[in-house]
Amino acid sequence: MRTKIIAGNWKMNKTASEAAALIEEIRAELEGVIGVEVVVCPPAVALKDAAAAVKGSAIGLGAQNVHWDESGAFTGEISAAMLKDLGVKYVIIGHSERRQYFGETNETVHKRTKAALAAGLTPLVCVGETLEERDSGQMESVVTKQIREGLADLGDDFTRIVVAYEPVWAIGTGRTATPAQAQEAHALIRRTLAEISSGDMANTVRIQYGGSMKPDNAVELLSQPDIDGGLIGGAALQAASFAAIVKAGVSLDAGFRVQRPAGS
Ligand code: PGA
Repeated sequence: MRTKIIAGNWKMNKTASEAAALIEEIRAELEGVIGVEVVVCPPAVALKDAAAAVKGSAIGLGAQNVHWDESGAFTGEISAAMLKDLGVKYVIIGHSERRQYFGETNETVHKRTKAALAAGLTPLVCVGETLEERDSGQMESVVTKQIREGLADLGDDFTRIVVAYEPVWAIGTGRTATPAQAQEAHALIRRTLAEISSGDMANTVRIQYGGSMKPDNAVELLSQPDIDGGLIGGAALQAASFAAIVKAGVSLDAGFRVQRPAGS
């Protein structure tokens, strides 16, 4: 069974002290809640304080980007070793905002993913089509290309990746993909993952949905067979709504276990 993973992508929100305060609130909301992997991804300058704030909890710390080189003349970039030194365990790679505004390509996504895996970080690799691409029937070709190029040649590390399907038209717009639309894309992603990996690897990879996931649509989305979690933007900036989404994942997970025959 794939453990659900709910991650908050805080984007360019929260100062270091605000980040620490929000984590304190999330900790309080999630007291005693188990069964879902929970991650928060504050801005880079807040990571040190955030690391102190998650200490002693099950909340994992993630960054929003990582460079592929170990060090050197790359103004404004941050290496995997620098992130690890702060206690970071996860990193978002290839978010559509980075693709759209900062020149991120499938090739740079691939290099960042390789570097993250080599350093022992868990990459949350984002893929997804724009509205124009969906409306012109290109969703499948765009998403499969992002997967094939961004996640090529990962070898045994393949099982350590997490993929986030984020249709660009659903991000920050309040317009969520329907559970059926999301499931269709997730199934396509899993088929593509199977084509570029060996054995049963693709069935172990978690695929998160992202794009206006909120407490009131989380259960429906998270109950789809190929949706293994969420990458949450706006709703991750309030402890109550973020925790409600985590709890939606927990309740489904528990239900699933209860329904399974003993020993299976
Ligand atoms: P949203 O953002 O939940 O605000 O739509 C999701 C994301 O961009 O990761």
